[in-house]
Amino acid sequence: MATKKIVGIALALTALVGACGTGEDNGDRPATTAPASSSTTEPANSDGPDAETLAATPPMGWNSWNQVRCYDLNEDVVKRAADAIVRHGLDDLGYRYVVVDDCWQAPERNSEGALVPDPERFSSGLADLADYIHDKGLRFGLYLSPGSETCAMQWDDYPATGLGSLGHERQDAEMLADIGVDYLKYDWCGADEVDGLEPETAFAHMRDELKRLDRPIVYSISEYGRNEPWKWAPGIANMWRTTSDILPMWASIATIINSQADLHPYAEPGSWNDPDMLQVGNGPLTDVEARSHVGMWAMLAAPLMIGTDLDKVTPGVLAALSNPEVIAIDQDPLGRQARRVRDDAGVQVWVRPLSDGEFAVALLNGGDAPTRVDTDLAEVGIDPGRWKVRDVWAQADGGVVDGALGADLEPHAMALFRLSPM
Ligand code: GAL
Repeated sequence: MATKKIVGIALALTALVGACGTGEDNGDRPATTAPASSSTTEPANSDGPDAETLAATPPMGWNSWNQVRCYDLNEDVVKRAADAIVRHGLDDLGYRYVVVDDCWQAPERNSEGALVPDPERFSSGLADLADYIHDKGLRFGLYLSPGSETCAMQWDDYPATGLGSLGHERQDAEMLADIGVDYLKYDWCGADEVDGLEPETAFAHMRDELKRLDRPIVYSISEYGRNEPWKWAPGIANMWRTTSDILPMWASIATIINSQADLHPYAEPGSWNDPDMLQVGNGPLTDVEARSHVGMWAMLAAPLMIGTDLDKVTPGVLAALSNPEVIAIDQDPLGRQARRVRDDAGVQVWVRPLSDGEFAVALLNGGDAPTRVDTDLAEVGIDPGRWKVRDVWAQADGGVVDGALGADLEPHAMALFRLSPM
């Protein structure tokens, strides 16, 4: 069990020597956060990054894909996930979007050209399912694709035709409002190769259709980070995938973490980098890896979408998902994403500026041997002085630091500190 080792952090109360990087802006934010064109300057359905902003903090919830993938998706699975979110108190922690991913559709549109849910697996209909979810105080999400095909038609041999929204954008958007959808996942699925679409144009098209609706809908887009969406999607969507699909294994998580190091300038309230959904609880991931997965996603200001069976979740996985102080970092209202200040053969140090002048500092052992990781205020670019330290995973005060902080970390473990000015 890594907890003891992580909790056993040594806070060396050493004096700082030398310059402390005071001139460094920890969340340096270039002008490139400006949307690509003036017609796309506002986050979807929002008036700007204030309290009214849709997805003012990274969306949290559950999505069916990483749990059941395609053919095992049905309304009972979704209802059970909603029940479990409430039973475990995850709704009170902020997990509120229950998202039905690909494979909810019947194989063809109906005679009016409308998408319809699979009649056997969703026999009660989606409006009924949305009501069920709303009655629990949760919000309902659904999956569509901009081209002519969904990804399951391509990768899972889903026997269907014409399920993409191409040529049906307005009809499908209005369907979302009719059903009572609060979150749209709009997934590329090779629409450039199959249909000759251009991502920015196609995603903006649906953004415009959503704006017509009298209903705020969080707009989550995915083209897997292939066209650097962080440079053009902030004015279009509330979140954009930055990677190809996450797999339930540490190597995939580590690869994704590494690929996020330069994306910190692009996140802000209402528009987030999305390094894909959580895999905790799946595959061979250990509890230590689960904690690092969730903790690093919190540092990255990433959406936290659970993708495991919450009826069978283990105490260790539930603990990784439900630490309120970790979630508070993910949901920090300043909305700045962490930047990496060190990567030494997988041993990494990250810092994230928080509201009220606080900081989160993560030490990650991405290597395969236990190691000691030490950093100091200078390395993370925090002003010299006395800072109160909180061990976030342990939810315990760690004393006062005026110089260095560190931790003994087993492979794939992370330590997470919150520093408050004194
Ligand atoms: C992938 C997407 C997954 C899932 C799947 C559905 O492209 O990245 O998250 O939505 O399609 O077919």
